[in-house]
Amino acid sequence: MKIAHESCSGRLFRYLMFGAILTMTVRHCYGVTSKYIRKLEASADLPLDDEHVLSQGGYNTPEQVHLTQGDHDGRAVIVSWVTPSEPGSSVVNYGTSKGQYEHSANGSITSYKFYDYTSGFIHHCVLSDLEYGTTYFYKLGTGNSTREFSFTTPPRVNQDSSYIFGIIGDLGQTYDSLKTLEHYLGSKGQTVLYVGDLSYADHYPYDSNVRWDTWGRLVEPSTAYQPWIWTAGNHEIEYLPQIGEVELFKPYRQRYHVPHTSSGSLSPLWYSIKRASAYIIVLSSYSSYAKYTPQWNWLQKELPKVKRHETPWLIVLMHTPLYNSNSYHYMEGESMRVQFEPWFVKFKVDIVFAGHVHAYERTHRVSNVLYDIENNNCVPVYDKSAPMYVTIGDGGNIEGIAGNFRDPQPAYSAYREASFGHALLDIKNRTHAYYSWHRNQDGKAVVADSFWLSNRHHGKWEEHTNFGLPRRRKLPLKL
Ligand SMILES: *[C@@H]1O[C@H](CO)[C@@H](O)[C@H](O)[C@H]1NC(C)=O
Ligand SMILES: *[C@@H]1O[C@H](CO)[C@@H](O)[C@H](O)[C@H]1NC(C)=O
Ligand SMILES: *[C@@H]1O[C@H](CO)[C@@H](O)[C@H](O)[C@H]1NC(C)=O
Ligand SMILES: [Fe+2]
Repeated sequence: MKIAHESCSGRLFRYLMFGAILTMTVRHCYGVTSKYIRKLEASADLPLDDEHVLSQGGYNTPEQVHLTQGDHDGRAVIVSWVTPSEPGSSVVNYGTSKGQYEHSANGSITSYKFYDYTSGFIHHCVLSDLEYGTTYFYKLGTGNSTREFSFTTPPRVNQDSSYIFGIIGDLGQTYDSLKTLEHYLGSKGQTVLYVGDLSYADHYPYDSNVRWDTWGRLVEPSTAYQPWIWTAGNHEIEYLPQIGEVELFKPYRQRYHVPHTSSGSLSPLWYSIKRASAYIIVLSSYSSYAKYTPQWNWLQKELPKVKRHETPWLIVLMHTPLYNSNSYHYMEGESMRVQFEPWFVKFKVDIVFAGHVHAYERTHRVSNVLYDIENNNCVPVYDKSAPMYVTIGDGGNIEGIAGNFRDPQPAYSAYREASFGHALLDIKNRTHAYYSWHRNQDGKAVVADSFWLSNRHHGKWEEHTNFGLPRRRKLPLKL
């Protein structure tokens, strides 16, 4: 009897120990919710007379200068700017040494009205057939109202071309936005992947478009010197039928041109570019993406075109995150996830960057693609072929921080933090990239989340853990 009793409690003890170890392991593998919380009250927009948003002095001086890639391969740049008083000249003089502008290109002028606002003269000029990896100096304006800037073209599109991308979202124009921008300016970032929600002009009555001008001036110290790759967010929609403004994305589309036609897209709201060793696909969360719509058709044809031996790093930008464990905007990306996630898994997208939620979050490599409405397979699982999802709507806009994460942290969420900042993706070569997220902490940029990425197409796949998540079973992936 005694022996039986002992063996019974021994077994119980072993069960308990096993359970405890299992619990510890599982809990250990789950993600981190950072204790660092930024103050919750939103900071104010910079006043209209703040030096960072003031117009240039002088008559009709070019302002709000910004660059973006102008073709599919990185050999062209679109230069855009505004002249406030009269059309002036759309000519860009440029060359490879300062002050000697052997080339010139002539652009186009547009302007628009938004309710009681009339824009300045918006210039867009494409500089093409540039040399790779070359610094160009350029001059805008005429007479004694000229301004000079420079930019450096990316290296040739090649699997080992190294390049540093900055990632910024939901910036706005507050004192916090200025911090984020200053931190980014102090980094080695060469091109910004911007994930939408630019000026937050729509925070003002009738979307006072004066706030589009101030935003253009605020970001100029970066955008005049390096391309920002644009994605449209919900604050760009600006649909106000009550005042007769019914053209969606009007100010955004007038001011921020993108090279969509060079990737066969009929809309500037979705397009792709190649830059160094990266292939970047920009999508619109606020345009139709259901089956057979233009965006769906375009993406279906686009993904098979990506040659991973040429551009090993495949990055997708969109505004609304597909994975988000914050109470703010929870599940808003669900319908696009259902539509596009199977393609992201099939084509092994490396990272999906999104904004919208004013906090930071990164997931493990997860997918949730097996559900077919009857089979109950509806849980995000660990999936080597899946992208990592980064939500980085933490630029610091007037709406403040999204400080309400769901509890407990779901297993797919690797790191999340309710504060502002920016990220860098430092691509070294075809196998290695270093990713880091920099929080704004008491006026300093502090690295809070960082790791090495090894490329799944070329690299040795080094992840040996499933982070406590169930793995994707080998069920046929319906596409
Ligand atoms: C640039 O184009 C505009 C509009 O077509 C034209 O009026 C202007 O003369 C051109 N400028 C130069 C320098 O070619
Ligand atoms: C240059 O500036 C002066 C004084 O600011 C002004 O009177 C003059 O008209 C300007 N010249 C041109 C060509 O714009
Ligand atoms: C790629 O970059 C990593 C990190 O810098 C380095 O360790 C590795 O040797 C590089 N590979 C090649 C082929 O240069
Ligand atoms: Fe948003």
